[in-house]
Amino acid sequence: MAKAKTTAFFCKECGYESAKWTGQCPACRAWNTMVEEPVAKKESSRRIVPGAARQAAKPVKLSEVSIKEQDRISTGYRELDRVLGSGIVAGSLVLVGGDPGIGKSTILLQVCRNLAAAGHKILYISGEESLKQIKLRANRIGEISGELLFLCETNLDDIEGAIRETKPEVVIIDSIQTMYRDDVSSAPGSVSQVRESTNILLQIAKGMGISVFIVGHVTKEGVVAGPRVLEHMVDTVLYFEGERNASYRILRGVKNRFGSTNEIGVFEMQEQGLVEVENPSEYLLSGRPQEASGAVVACSIEGTRPILLEVQALVAQTNFGMARRTAAGTDYNRVNLLMAVLEKRCHYEMSRYDAYVNIAGGVRMNEPALDLAIVLALVSSLKDRPVNPKCIIFGEVGLSGEVRAVSMAEQRVREAAKLGFEACILPQVCLEKIKKAEGIRLYGVKNVREAITTI
Ligand code: TYD
Ligand code: MG
Repeated sequence: MAKAKTTAFFCKECGYESAKWTGQCPACRAWNTMVEEPVAKKESSRRIVPGAARQAAKPVKLSEVSIKEQDRISTGYRELDRVLGSGIVAGSLVLVGGDPGIGKSTILLQVCRNLAAAGHKILYISGEESLKQIKLRANRIGEISGELLFLCETNLDDIEGAIRETKPEVVIIDSIQTMYRDDVSSAPGSVSQVRESTNILLQIAKGMGISVFIVGHVTKEGVVAGPRVLEHMVDTVLYFEGERNASYRILRGVKNRFGSTNEIGVFEMQEQGLVEVENPSEYLLSGRPQEASGAVVACSIEGTRPILLEVQALVAQTNFGMARRTAAGTDYNRVNLLMAVLEKRCHYEMSRYDAYVNIAGGVRMNEPALDLAIVLALVSSLKDRPVNPKCIIFGEVGLSGEVRAVSMAEQRVREAAKLGFEACILPQVCLEKIKKAEGIRLYGVKNVREAITTI
């Protein structure tokens, strides 16, 4: 009889399992991410909890399922509530990912403080920091009152016991990569440990109706599994973005079973923890150079909210046969495509120029509505003629140089008017749909050439 396999190879990035080692993961195409780990025992996936007799579930009609309003708890932060889909859903499993040191523990501690102050019972489990360290952080973010319990523990069986004993409404697991189960033989942070640990937390969340927040570090290298391994197991995935040396942080929802994805929440890291940024447009446009060529204000929709941002382009004569192109904060291939459109449809000799495109503020925006702004920023820089700083631009550009409609044009125009913009260049089709716009002149354009003359 063949010997049963005791180890397998797992991808640290996406959790792909394979019987043999490969240099590149066949699933996510990442290099050098396959690691050998013991295979988790089969019976572990079907656990019998002592004291809680397993009941077979009965099929029911959806009309018999009741949804109560209070099933959603507000976090006390409007920015975070929006990303979660108007609050924390009872019994949900939320993954908060991000680079180490970006502020995951900080925001969760602040949320815990708000929830405890609102009378909820919270259990914060840290496997990374001692109680003293947590206290030091808590002192920075301010007064903590109410029923907020802390536990420093990494063994999930003990954690499960503590949760069953204290019966909190919300549990925070500060970093899944430090948690381990005795019956899984691989080291904490390995793919199978991270997966099996999440499995237990999933059972706790669904079985007891407790909302569980899991912190997952994004790891570039090293032996710990990344949070992408668990994306499919949890209800909601939030990622913390932002440059470490800049103070703002963007919380982006990439998966949400209870709300729309692509919502973002903007925060700023200050001395006393993270502070919400109520108006991200103002924030992203602050410090904008006036009368500089190659800078254009665009409007992108993030989830349900319009956000104004500055698109910058620098076009300079190339010194080599091959022109250089870079795109920071937006899609590189999209920028190449738009330059080809300019070359072919408007007869600008773009191949003789290097071009650098950047979305100011270090944010990433990939909406096609930015196309027209990128095109006009490139032309403005090429001709060294500044665009009116009180003008905003949006519209999708097609391959034949036509300017196509984008969604939610009226919201974009309203946001621009609110921030004191005086003119707006938008697709002609959208212009016809907008009923009224006060305090802002609208210019509808049909193609790129028309947009360039309007400017
Ligand atoms: P932290 O929440 O510990 O990061 P993570 O849990 O994602 O690893 O964030 C720590 C960083 O935030 C650290 O660099 C210090 C900074 N910070 C402040 O600037 N102000 C504060 O009030 C706090 C608590 C942290
Ligand atoms: Mg932390």
